Amino acid sequence: MSSPATRRLLDLLGIDLPVIQAPMAGVSPPAMAASVSQAGALGSIGVGAVDAAAARGMIHAVRARTQRPFNVNVFAHRPAVVDPAREAAWIERFRPAFARFHAEPPLQLREIYQSFQVDDAMLAVLVDERPHVVSFHFGLPDAPRMRMLQAAGIVLVASVTSLAEARAAQAAGVAAVVAQGYEAGGHRGVFDPDTPDERLATAPLVRLLAGEIALPIIAAGGLMTGSDIAGALRMGAAAAQLGTAFVATDESLADEGYRAALFSDAARHTVMTRAISGRPARSLASRFTDLTADIPDGEVPHYPVAYDLGKALHAAARAKGAHGYGAYWAGMGAPRARAMSAAALVRKLADEIR
Ligand SMILES: Cc1cc2nc3c(=O)[nH]c(=O)nc-3n(C[C@H](O)[C@H](O)[C@H](O)COP(=O)(O)O)c2cc1C
Repeated sequence: MSSPATRRLLDLLGIDLPVIQAPMAGVSPPAMAASVSQAGALGSIGVGAVDAAAARGMIHAVRARTQRPFNVNVFAHRPAVVDPAREAAWIERFRPAFARFHAEPPLQLREIYQSFQVDDAMLAVLVDERPHVVSFHFGLPDAPRMRMLQAAGIVLVASVTSLAEARAAQAAGVAAVVAQGYEAGGHRGVFDPDTPDERLATAPLVRLLAGEIALPIIAAGGLMTGSDIAGALRMGAAAAQLGTAFVATDESLADEGYRAALFSDAARHTVMTRAISGRPARSLASRFTDLTADIPDGEVPHYPVAYDLGKALHAAARAKGAHGYGAYWAGMGAPRARAMSAAALVRKLADEIR
């Protein structure tokens, strides 16, 4: 728990425990981040799916509850490519699914959130608010944006899934990388979803990066207990980032259907799918993943345009009391999820690491 790499990272992040609660856009609220940070780990909020004003509100909501460091996570993906023919075909494909809930699919699909690569208002909020840590998912912002965040004294972290991405992150000047293995829940952080994916699992990825990268490595993917975290530290990680474990906590925004699925047999069947949002992401098997299992990636609209339809179908189903169409993101560790408060989970993880 106290290797030189871990001590260096804890100092950098201003925390006591080598545990990071993963930013989970739409699932991890400010109250979760604050509880986790208060308990000595690093709490995170995900602002990838909200605009700059809402992000500022979330930052203030964390600060109203804790003075301790926390992480603000943005999506730095290549901005969406509009493809009207592909999108029209996607809408038609789902018309029968909407009809089952007496609903119509959207007439058009939208790019429902802006990438941090082009979001000047979000950059201005982060520079102004100066959270202790900012992390990137899906890629890296350009050099001027990196410099502005660094000049504001913010510690920068990037998710990576391969050695090439880790090298790019190191060259861009981040202070640490999240090594996200294929087991991980939620979206894969791959920089370019249209190039072949190496699909490295967490353990081989951490070991590979530990031998090649000078930065502290944060292991992510399938880690649910303190003993899992201790194992990752032994492989050369300086800390661990856990998402699915926190989906199960009291503070999580996971709805009734999501929680029920997480604590059911569905937890043993996670699938990597691009059909929900347009980017590969690991989800609990659901009606939506069954419906889309055979669709070739090339037919799915680009991220996050596809997500506009996925969210609309989920809303239509929920309006009729049907579950199973939500984005029930979870990693391969899902069967070991434990329900408790976020602070209790951090305390439990700390005990188990020891
Ligand atoms: C519900 C959910 C939402 C997620 N949302 C984000 C996000 O907004 N930003 C991000 O960088 N990572 C996100 N992730 C991925 C996590 O950062 C992390 O890589 C992953 O949770 C680790 O695997 P685990 O879920 O097996 O712990 C999400 C993961 C989950 C489970």
